[in-house]
Amino acid sequence: MTDKPEQENSGSGGKRKISRRRFLTYVALGAAGAGMATTAAYARWVEPFWVEYHDVHIPIPGLPLEFDGFTIAHVTDLHCGIPLRGEDVRPVLERVVTRKPDMVAVTGDLVNKIHDSYDIALGELKYIAEKLPTYVIPGNHDYWEGIENFVIGVPKTGAVDLTNRHLVLKRGNAELVIAGIDDLWEGRPDLDAALKGIDRDAQSIILLLHNPDHFITVRGTGIDLVLAGHTHGGQVKPPFMKAPLVPLRNTKYARGFFREFGTSLYVSRGVGMLRQVRFNCRPEVAYIVLRSTNQ
Ligand SMILES: [Fe+2]
Repeated sequence: MTDKPEQENSGSGGKRKISRRRFLTYVALGAAGAGMATTAAYARWVEPFWVEYHDVHIPIPGLPLEFDGFTIAHVTDLHCGIPLRGEDVRPVLERVVTRKPDMVAVTGDLVNKIHDSYDIALGELKYIAEKLPTYVIPGNHDYWEGIENFVIGVPKTGAVDLTNRHLVLKRGNAELVIAGIDDLWEGRPDLDAALKGIDRDAQSIILLLHNPDHFITVRGTGIDLVLAGHTHGGQVKPPFMKAPLVPLRNTKYARGFFREFGTSLYVSRGVGMLRQVRFNCRPEVAYIVLRSTNQ
């Protein structure tokens, strides 16, 4: 009888100890679960639609002073259809218009896998092309959903299809070449055709292409700047780690700025996405501001 109360006391103290530990475990698990649920909700419903608009100043050696400050709104990988509908894309384009860039570059993947994808994409392209000079090249998804829709539809919007061709922009006697090439995976890219008649050493050249893997073959050929999309930045990038899903051989080109063999590259994280999830990889519109290094 004398032992029992002691055991009960001891047991009671033990129970309190265990129950406190359990309580803290439940709290920790609950907090972790709530944190995971919050993160998942953020990655699903917030970040995919939280577009970052920012300036990227890129020095272009030899760029005529007349083009110093020339600004390109790089709007790519809209993937209209799912999850972005026209009502999601339009506010992005409206904001681009207010920035008053000198031109818009759309480096592929207008559409996604849904029947009215091209209808939406071409409608939005028409909206922006009526307000700003807009240059477009195709991506792999534009092929997968019927490239004839791109070939026939893009010119009707007022945008310029730059597949394997170029235009020369002029300011006084100064010139800037805007060129484009076909998609690396599904098209027939032809850089020589795209730059036919251009003096690559003497003229400043901006090249639009879809897949950053293509940079390996076009860098160091007299092209000053390449603008690319395709990767969406990987869409999900755990902190302190590389994005695990980047559809490239050269995964280092997942996002951002590079300069190799005298050619600069900017890879956009894009506006749209394939599945409605982004984490630590916001959609973006980069305003590429060309800077002359001439005195
Ligand atoms: Fe894409």
